[in-house]
Parts: sequence; C-alpha cells; structure tokens
Amino acid sequence: MNRAAAPPSNFHFHDLQPPPDDFRAAVIAGLRSQPRSLSPKYFYDARGSTLFDAITALPEYYLTRTEIGLLRRYGDEMATLLGRDTVLLEFGSGSDVKVRLLLDALRPHAYLPLDISATHLRRAAAAIAADHARLQVHALCVDYTCPFPLPATLDGHRRAAFFPGSSIGNFEPQQACRLLRGIADLLGPHGNLLIGVDLKKAHAELHAAYNDAAGVTAAFNLNLLHRMRAELDAQVDPAGFRHHAFYNAEAGRIEMHLLATDRQQVRIGDEGFVFGAGDGIHTENAYKYSLDEFGALAARAGLRTRRVWCDDGERYSVHCLQPA
Ligand code: AVI
Repeated sequence: MNRAAAPPSNFHFHDLQPPPDDFRAAVIAGLRSQPRSLSPKYFYDARGSTLFDAITALPEYYLTRTEIGLLRRYGDEMATLLGRDTVLLEFGSGSDVKVRLLLDALRPHAYLPLDISATHLRRAAAAIAADHARLQVHALCVDYTCPFPLPATLDGHRRAAFFPGSSIGNFEPQQACRLLRGIADLLGPHGNLLIGVDLKKAHAELHAAYNDAAGVTAAFNLNLLHRMRAELDAQVDPAGFRHHAFYNAEAGRIEMHLLATDRQQVRIGDEGFVFGAGDGIHTENAYKYSLDEFGALAARAGLRTRRVWCDDGERYSVHCLQPA
C-alpha cells in the first residue's frame, strides 16, 4: 500500500489562516502606482524559493554563510543568554540549517516555526519533529506581521524568538520598528530575540552580493515576470527587462529594480501598461545597518541590546535583544 507517512506525534500544525494573497490585485496596483513597485514577498513562488536557496550558496552572497559561521562559533553563548526550556519561535522559517544549529545548543521546550507558506512550513517542521522526538513542534501558518495567538498549552514557559537571515532589512525602517515592537509584546519581559542583521560595508561588496557573476539574483528578480505570465496570464516579455541592483548610500539600502531594455507593453486582462526604455519596477529594498543604527531601531521598538556577535570582518551581526 502506498500511504504517505503519518506525521510524528510531536508535530502539530496550526492554520491561523493568513489572508489569501491576491497577487493579481497587488500587481495591478503596483504597476498603476508611481514609481511602479511590487512587494518582495512575491519573489517566493516555488521557483523563486529555489533560486533564493541558490543565492544563499553564491560566493558573493556572504550573508548566509557568515550567519551560519556565527551560530556555529557562538551558539552555546547565544543559548545561555536565551535560557533552557523556552518556547522558541522562528520568524520566517526559511532554510532549517540555522535553527538546527540553535536547537542543539538551546534544547527548548517547544519549537514554533512561523511562515505564511503552508506547504513549505509543514515539510520543514515535520522533518525537525522527526529528528527531535522529545521536542514539541507547533508549526504556525500565519502572517507574522499581524498579531496572532500562541497555543495556550505553551503558556507559562519563557519565550525566545529567532529571526535570522537579515530579513528585517527587507522591511522599511518604520515597518521594521512596528514588527519588532510586536515581537517584544509576544516575548514578554523575560523573553529574548536573536536576530540576524546585515551591516553597512564597502559598497563594492554589497553591490557584488546582489549582482552575482552567475546571474542567479538576476533570474530571481526576473522570475517575478515569469510568475506574472504563469499565474495571471500576463502578456509580458521577460527578455525585454533586465535586473538592476545598486546600493543607495543616502537611504542605506540595496535597491532592486526590473528595467525595460526598450519600449515594452505589459497587459494583464483589460489593463495595459507601457514602459519606455529604462522605465522600471522597484522590486526590493534591503536595508543595511550600522551596529548603532540597529541598536537605536531596537530601542525605539522597546528592546534593549544584551549582546551582539559579529564576524571578524564586521560584515554581519547577530543581536540578542530583550524587552526593556
Ligand atoms: C531574504 N532577504 C534577506 C534577501 C536579502 O538579501 O535582502 C533577499 C535577496 N534579494 C536578493 N538577494 C537576496
């Protein structure tokens, strides 16, 4: 008999029903707006997620391997600050490599990965439950930028949150502050947040990280147009657009855009959009912080810095924060 394996008994899935994502409405609104823009959350369809995994292994993309290096080197120290027997929440459980490093050092009471994408979340969380038989794994399918409840059975345990990957940099600073304040509320006075933050550095190094020689980041950016064709039946020629990423020093962020190489017409249902040569769609910001800037942002969100770990080149940081 060919039956799917039953999930392990320490695995629980909670569908907190994130609002359905209306990609069509978002694309039309984004192309109508001036300047034209789309949220980076739309990068992550199945192909986009695979391309992002490939980005994390690129020689130019130092973020992932530097963060993993910090978790390997300082994991025990981080675990000591977070404390044993916590309820560990992971915001945006992408690749499970990082949290696995932390789980071994931390030995939490329960692990709660949070993600908006049910398929990916279920698979990754069930695998962790299978490998850690004594750990209660509660996967929460949720939009974590909005308030959400935690399973009542986990009340009474100290909380810890893990927010890796410098994903906080993809939020506008004001949104980032709001999100951090929400996390502080969720943690309560004795909880801790461990968060990965990419740092300001030589512009050439930042530029290279988002303009890799193999063109994977370009494919990741252009995949938005392929996604529009596949899911919205949009008439758009991806070959008529090119990837453009640069460091905007004044704003302190990498910007990604898709620029028309020559005059292009995009059609979605009844809606038509004309692009002159060089006209674009702004697809992502990735803010880079100095240690002081991030500390100040955290303080505005009501979080005090307990400790910061950096690699030797001070390219990347992991911060342990606690509600003030
Ligand atoms: C997910 N996020 C932290 C990545 C970043 O570096 O901002 C997304 C990315 N965009 C292009 N390359 C990687």
